[in-house]
Amino acid sequence: MNPVYEKLERCLESYRDKIQFVPKAALVLGSGLGDYADQIQVEHTLDYHEMEGFPVSTVPGHKGRFIFGYVGELPVVCMQGRVHYYEGYEMSDVVLPIRLMKLMGAEILFLTNAAGGIQAGMQAGDLMLIKDQISSFVPSPLRGQNIGELGVRFPDMSKIYDEKLRRIVKKAAAELDIDLKEGTYLQLPGPQFETPAEVAMCRTLGADAVGMSTACEAVAARHMGMRVVGISCISNLACGISAAPLSHEEVQETADKTAPRFRALVTETLTKIASAGGKEG
Ligand code: HPA
Repeated sequence: MNPVYEKLERCLESYRDKIQFVPKAALVLGSGLGDYADQIQVEHTLDYHEMEGFPVSTVPGHKGRFIFGYVGELPVVCMQGRVHYYEGYEMSDVVLPIRLMKLMGAEILFLTNAAGGIQAGMQAGDLMLIKDQISSFVPSPLRGQNIGELGVRFPDMSKIYDEKLRRIVKKAAAELDIDLKEGTYLQLPGPQFETPAEVAMCRTLGADAVGMSTACEAVAARHMGMRVVGISCISNLACGISAAPLSHEEVQETADKTAPRFRALVTETLTKIASAGGKEG
């Protein structure tokens, strides 16, 4: 058996040994949304290190566990802390949790992150709905022998972020009076922040925000047929757009300040998804 699939199956088995819960949506909590667990009626938690071979994050501020429970009526699994490519993991390990959540039953993937803002007029603290992405600067999580059990060799990515779910996020934002930006997210490998020249390159390529996660996760999820929705918290203006030097602390601080609005938007979106019962649009 393919070793990547074998590890995934082992993680699934150790999950099923401990927990019987079928989530409908999977949620990845990026910087600033780590305390979103407060919004969840928690049924179970599972520390990442309880699953053999599961990648565990080393970044300060990133916890490492799954939370299972309900947002309103919707059964969700929520990743409190993700692993990043820059931590040294293989891309197949970086996306293992995404694949695992699909195998747990989740059909919808809700990705969140902190990102540097590039789009003209953006400000630190803005929220940006991701409408498309550029992942070409990091290895594809689908590289290597295709795992046919998960998806096809050459998956279509023309609508990587689900149109109907995007419409729901926009509706939720309008109701909450949140000025929601929309744009293309570009993933760079990190961990260093970009140089001004790199940010200029990202802008030329059509990026509205730049970060170090998410795009690879969206690719793995689409490969498996999940419906993906993503929101970036613009925690800072990207290098060269703002004159100030960047720091992880600043990213964390702005993300924390934005958290109440971000939380409200995520909850309202999930509530709308639940009440649409999959027939949203
Ligand atoms: N660049 C890359 N990743 C980031 C940034 C940034 O400016 N801010 C938060 N994550």
